[in-house]
Amino acid sequence: MAKDMERSGPSHVAVIMDGNGRWATMRGKPRLFGHHAGARRVREIVERCPDLGVKYLTIFAFSTENWKRTQTEVAGLMSLFRRYIEREARALLENGVRVRFIGDRIRLDEKLVRMMDELELLTSGNDKVHLTVALNYGGRDEVTRAAKRLAYEIEQGRLSHKDVDAECLAGFLDTHVLPDPDLVIRTSGEARISNFLLWQSAYAEYEFVDTLWPDFTADEFAGVVGAYGKRERRFGAVRV
Ligand code: FPP
Repeated sequence: MAKDMERSGPSHVAVIMDGNGRWATMRGKPRLFGHHAGARRVREIVERCPDLGVKYLTIFAFSTENWKRTQTEVAGLMSLFRRYIEREARALLENGVRVRFIGDRIRLDEKLVRMMDELELLTSGNDKVHLTVALNYGGRDEVTRAAKRLAYEIEQGRLSHKDVDAECLAGFLDTHVLPDPDLVIRTSGEARISNFLLWQSAYAEYEFVDTLWPDFTADEFAGVVGAYGKRERRFGAVRV
């Protein structure tokens, strides 16, 4: 990978939006207050993507582990997702954003799933920014579901085990239509990947920033994205 010091910015950025709860607690407010503030940042950052050359933005909104939170917080988050879809649908459509959801829909309530399907369909003609929202998503869960579907295809005789390679398996992942992320950002000072895009991030660059998600402005996002272009990425190869 010679000369990639001057490479361009990341085309696909994935974000672990962490720190909403702490942000709210520091202000003496309930955790949901932080999630609402966090949702406002999503809008601002999506709107900045075209200027930065970020074509794909994937955000971690709710993990397969997040069900362990209190009933109040889980219900509040689900209601926030419904409100977000209701309120943002028009702006997303008009701003050329194509929305997709990844994750297992089986545990989500019917009304929310219907709204997710409708938003995907409504924005399916857009191509300016591809926003993917991970909802009830876990990397291991995704790979497990993919393996299960793959095994079923073999069982049905539509595939042979000889056809199974990395590309074949990736075709069964929720993200099969998306490129792999170039850059994964996590806010709030935690340096963990928490089961996010495990397969897809094999060669991604990680950036851990201390800012809590509700304080993570579009300008700070632009700074992190800009810094990516200045670093070297070798995909296991030796620099020549
Ligand atoms: C992590 O912070 C954040 C979440 C589990 C929820 C993320 C959701 C949003 C930002 C809402 C907006 C999303 C959409 C799609 C509208 P945390 O609660 O783990 O914070 P903590 O680590 O400080 O407790």
